Amino acid sequence: MTSTKFPFPSLPASFKFGAATSSAQIEGTSPGDGKGPSIWDKFCATPGKIKDGSNIDVACNHLNLMPEDVERLKWLGVDSYRFSIAWPRVQPLGQGAWNETGFAFYDRLIDKLLEAGIAPHATLFHWDLPQALQETVGGWQSRETCHHFAAYAAEVARRFGDRLATIATHNEPWCTATLGYETGQFAPGLKNRATSIQVSHHLLLSHGLAMTAMRAVGAKAQLGIVVNHTPAVAAEKTPSDLQAARIADGLDVRWYMDPLFRGAYPADAIEYLGADAPKIEAGDMALIRQPMDYLGINLYTRNWISTSDPKIPAPAPNGVNDMGWEIVPDILTQHLIRVTRDYMPPPIMITENGMANADTVVDGEVPDTARVSYLQSHLEAVSKAVALGADVRAYFYWSLLDNFEWDSGYVKRFGLFRVDYDTQKRTPKASAHWYRDFIAQHKSKR
Ligand code: FCB
Repeated sequence: MTSTKFPFPSLPASFKFGAATSSAQIEGTSPGDGKGPSIWDKFCATPGKIKDGSNIDVACNHLNLMPEDVERLKWLGVDSYRFSIAWPRVQPLGQGAWNETGFAFYDRLIDKLLEAGIAPHATLFHWDLPQALQETVGGWQSRETCHHFAAYAAEVARRFGDRLATIATHNEPWCTATLGYETGQFAPGLKNRATSIQVSHHLLLSHGLAMTAMRAVGAKAQLGIVVNHTPAVAAEKTPSDLQAARIADGLDVRWYMDPLFRGAYPADAIEYLGADAPKIEAGDMALIRQPMDYLGINLYTRNWISTSDPKIPAPAPNGVNDMGWEIVPDILTQHLIRVTRDYMPPPIMITENGMANADTVVDGEVPDTARVSYLQSHLEAVSKAVALGADVRAYFYWSLLDNFEWDSGYVKRFGLFRVDYDTQKRTPKASAHWYRDFIAQHKSKR
């Protein structure tokens, strides 16, 4: 396999490398597993919602193949693995009774990871809300769900808080709220901006309540949240492009970061939203602004903003990935510096970064050179940010496996391992070999 020199001296020996997945995207279900349906099961069953018409009944069958997937992580040599707990697997209705079979699965996963010397990083909500909560209390549209979420968080922290390295409350609240309730691209598929904004407030509130509840049970794991940032960049320095970029930034980066770190929504975004601004109750903002042990940032690309007619296309000097997302490694360095400057956050982990590629199989191998370049350039971007003073401690590639890419179904492949969905065979791609070599070289510094 290609041997590469990895000249990233600014990444300290203690810097950790990992890979990430999420429950709905890989697990699948098994008869008798006791899992309740999630809003994504319902969404997949609704014609026209998933581009390839697929569902998550089997996905990567990780529920049954988990031990061998942990072997793959071990083969890669990663320090850390980020996964999510499916709320409806451990609490089928999202309130009330716990499903011991569900907890037993994560218990085994955590033990296997620890046996393999891999630190387990869990996310509590990576979008698979119990369908029962959606139907009976209105899901994230209702404040009641925030309290059920806090109870679920406390239960996970009580059971696993001494063995997990980190617990993130939410994965990408922007996606949950905006894609799930404003554009309707994601489950539950609503299309109403005011609803989406109210949902975003409830997500933040539920984060605050969950943090408090997990601290109360004495969780030893580091506690935080994972946000996704797509930095807005004005195509031209015209007032119109600059203003549009400012609003995009206000509704994406600052909408979540300001409440989390400053205890208030950004004034310009509130003004822009007008009547769609969220209803906030007394004490909410103080609850949201909880001290965090770490901040997870997911970053894939930038948001190129052009208001001219015709629009100025994104320059994409390094091309676009199979999702059509522009590949811009520099934005990762710039953004890490900006977040450090503006918020002085706790230690940062890049909890997701990666690319979809139309991989081809050649003689049983997957020569995904584009993904190797992506990985290398983005790791270099992280190392530059660290050299400039950003306190980044870890990097997780998205994803360990090709998996269910939400409304795109199984067509978009992000994995280090190719999954043949007919046979469930996993094949390490060239990028997996590259990452493995990279990690081994890095570990030799320790
Ligand atoms: C992120 C999601 C993750 C995956 C990647 C490609 O927004 O957190 O589940 O779909 O995008």
